[in-house]
Amino acid sequence: MTVRPILPIGHPILRTRTTPVPRSDISSSRIQGLIDDLIDTMRHANGAGIAANQIGDTARILTIEVNNNPRYPYKPPVPLTVAINPVLEPLDAETVVINEGCLSVPLRGELVRSVNVAVRYTDRQGVDHERVVRGLTAGTWQHECDHLDGVLVADRIDPKTLSTWEQFRAHHQDAFVERITRFVREVGS
Ligand code: NI
Repeated sequence: MTVRPILPIGHPILRTRTTPVPRSDISSSRIQGLIDDLIDTMRHANGAGIAANQIGDTARILTIEVNNNPRYPYKPPVPLTVAINPVLEPLDAETVVINEGCLSVPLRGELVRSVNVAVRYTDRQGVDHERVVRGLTAGTWQHECDHLDGVLVADRIDPKTLSTWEQFRAHHQDAFVERITRFVREVGS
């Protein structure tokens, strides 16, 4: 397992649509090693999730894990999830404004995400999963699947809300955390 460099915005592979992993390749040492590196790199950077193209690979794989995350203390916990070939489907028109950051983008800001989303994916053992995710967890899934489609938060953030992390903490964090904590309590995830 290796902590790999995270590519910053501007690198062309972040704009590349990733390629589905054939089922027969999931058990290969290349794919299993890539998954190990994604988990290590995500944890090392305190990311809530990471997509393969952020560490330079075009396989359609993401990992998500939230557990008392210092970058995002308001996010509800999510057990370690490895999703191969994930597909998302918003279930209705309900949306929420989230202030998001990204390991590949130095700024953060507000964007609109769906609240109720069905996710389908295959795990690293080759087992298929389908379930509904909600709230900030649904936002994290949308963020990582955007990466796998070559889309960055920079494409979605309302430019007037762009902020460095330092300025976010100084001027915007308290109001955001208050609003989003109330939202998490209502939605339950
Ligand atoms: Ni990101």
